[in-house]
Amino acid sequence: MSLRSVGVLGTGKYVPERVLTNAELEKMVDTNDEWIVSRTGIKERRIAAEHEDTSDLAFRAAEVALAAAGITAEQLDLIVVATVTPDMAFPATACIVQERLGAKNAAAFDLSAACSGFIYGLANASNFIATGMYNYALVIGAECLSRITDYTDRNTCILFGDGAGATVLGPVEAERGFKSFVLGADGTGGELLKVEKGGSSCPTSELAAEAKPNSIYMNGREVFKFAVRIMGSAAEEALLKAGKTKEDIDLLIPHQANTRIIHAALERLNLPEHKCVINLPYYANTSAASIPIALAEAVEQERISQGDTLVLVGFGGGLTWGASVLVW
Ligand code: ACO
Repeated sequence: MSLRSVGVLGTGKYVPERVLTNAELEKMVDTNDEWIVSRTGIKERRIAAEHEDTSDLAFRAAEVALAAAGITAEQLDLIVVATVTPDMAFPATACIVQERLGAKNAAAFDLSAACSGFIYGLANASNFIATGMYNYALVIGAECLSRITDYTDRNTCILFGDGAGATVLGPVEAERGFKSFVLGADGTGGELLKVEKGGSSCPTSELAAEAKPNSIYMNGREVFKFAVRIMGSAAEEALLKAGKTKEDIDLLIPHQANTRIIHAALERLNLPEHKCVINLPYYANTSAASIPIALAEAVEQERISQGDTLVLVGFGGGLTWGASVLVW
């Protein structure tokens, strides 16, 4: 069976209006702007309004991506939402988005691979299109991390923000599109980064009875070491699989977790900073939403031309990682 080339037809993003600055966090926990900026690069993050859930953010980003692609909601065959903060256990956030868009011909499911979720989603959706089973897919990364962040824990609360990014995928000419995907997981590192409550091992009924917090736990130092190692190696593996070299990269779109992690990846790939999208100072870590928001901003800012070689790379809880080479 011959496979079709699959590329990105449109991108979109949505971030909530409310900005939470480092100065405000200084009043909430024992931290300061200088520490946060020097250790992470983060200056501010967006926080969803009380009435906004993950599906609301996802829907807004999806509308922009569909308009950019010139595809109607009814033409969609598939909606994938990568998230660790779904509106509810089920129905899937993807089904809620499907209903709101009126994408009545689309299959819909959520995908949980933490910050690597968007790349996992792209790989899934592009395979459906490559084989000819589907023509158009909407892949969204969307998170309301503020809902699972403990704002009394200075180790984690400075790091996260809310937002959504979306892409419409479809068939493209042979020389364009996704040239490789690398996906990986190491469950032995699951303990390093987790939200362990609210699932079947500690249901919400127990949470309410014991007033247990249901928030992100992270061993920052260990995750940092893993991230520095895996960002470089996953990007290199994706380049190799695509038959390309570091010199071919026009733009790197990394997961936005920490500028020190991004700079380590740039060093390993011999890339100058202007060949990388860094919007972490304004949005912090939005998990599965970070790569599609960065991609949408690079498109908005006309930083990508047809034929450019992009490398998308991310890591996250699981532990998981993913990378892809995309010719625009
Ligand atoms: N303000 C001030 N001091 C702080 C803060 C804060 N917000 N947070 C921690 N500190 C203190 C610590 O208590 C520690 O003090 P001690 O030495 O007296 O114990 C000191 O600062 C240094 O702490 P470290 O953990 O060594 O700081 P580090 O330089 O490693 O930076 C950070 C911490 C930013 C969390 C870093 O480890 C990191 O970025 N790790 C990776 C995080 C990441 O990428 N997570 C991905 C999550 S993605 C997902 O799947 C949701």
